[in-house]
Amino acid sequence: MKTSSARLTGLGTTIFAEMTALAQRTGAINLGQGFPDTDGPEEIRELAAETVRGHGHHQYAPGIGIGELRQAIAEHQHRWYDLDIDPDTEIVVSTGATEAIAASLLGLLDPGDEIIVLEPYYDSYVAMIQMAGATRVPVTLRAPDFRLPINVLRAAVTPRTAALLLNTPHNPTGTVLNRGELEAIASLAVAHDLVVISDEVYEHLAFDEPHVPIATLPGMRERTITISSIGKSFSLTGWKIGWATGPAELLRSVMGVKQFLSYTSGAPLQPAAAAALGSDSAYFEEFRDRLRSQRDLLCGGLREIGFEVFPPQGTYFATTDVRPLGFDDGIDFCRRLPELAGVVAVPHEVFYDDRQAGRPLVRWAFCKRPEVLAEALDRLAVLT
Ligand SMILES: Cc1ncc(COP(=O)(O)O)c(C=O)c1O
Repeated sequence: MKTSSARLTGLGTTIFAEMTALAQRTGAINLGQGFPDTDGPEEIRELAAETVRGHGHHQYAPGIGIGELRQAIAEHQHRWYDLDIDPDTEIVVSTGATEAIAASLLGLLDPGDEIIVLEPYYDSYVAMIQMAGATRVPVTLRAPDFRLPINVLRAAVTPRTAALLLNTPHNPTGTVLNRGELEAIASLAVAHDLVVISDEVYEHLAFDEPHVPIATLPGMRERTITISSIGKSFSLTGWKIGWATGPAELLRSVMGVKQFLSYTSGAPLQPAAAAALGSDSAYFEEFRDRLRSQRDLLCGGLREIGFEVFPPQGTYFATTDVRPLGFDDGIDFCRRLPELAGVVAVPHEVFYDDRQAGRPLVRWAFCKRPEVLAEALDRLAVLT
């Protein structure tokens, strides 16, 4: 009897499960997985509670999402990026960004298509490209600076290339693609008539330079699906309310798949998600500043302990090279770390096809309270 398809069990998923089990067994501080240890804004949670207690939001929402949330997403795109989006035809609300990624890849790729992807990858990309029967063509971001190698990107395009999958700010490297890099991608996409799928879930966590959606570049609005969600920007990762925006023709393909994945997403949470998106600028600034100072705390501490640290320009994650501390393999390091120091981290290698490029690298999440980060750093001091 066939019980599973091993094809879809990526090394990343296996390592996350192993590391979470290790954290639970050893009582280690878990800096492995990317979720905050504080809850999102109280007034937003209150609003969600009121909606759940009340009437009218407990049956299936429209597949594309309730009007109020689509309006809020359109206003958010206009307010932050000056993008004009039609809330009736250019938005699909999804069950987290994860479903928007799945529906975009399944909706747009045909078996045999190639899709260029920046690696290291967020792990759902690999599984979804496999499910679509397409082939991923990696473009590797390499330490120490993890910049986009534009010549490698150009060379990756073939007659079978259908799309390009971006993630900026980028998990796990923390790279925020700059205007020059985005322009290079855009000119390639236009020249070869490619669709761009842009995962921007960390859009409000660009610490140094502002985040630039590729859809704002000339010629890109009509060929880009932009994906985001409520999870990272509002410390509500468990809500799983996300969205895709883009031209109506592409969004029809996304909705065509979504209707058979979930049909409709979390109706009672959608009004509060709409309110969250309308938060005043002070919320977004304070949130970004708080995460920036957590980044600085963790990166400074890891550097003092002796790691080579590659400070991220965005996201929840910092990357280090473990070799200065006498290790040469990140997987081995992460397996031993809970016993050695009572901390859990995640090896980069599981996010690469070019496993050598990720071998000595380890990812640490700093979306944790400063006292938790300080305690983790105290524990890690045994490694010096
Ligand atoms: C790059 C990236 N994309 C998408 C997601 C998933 O977002 P959501 O929880 O909204 O499905 C994550 C979560 O870690 C992520 O890091």
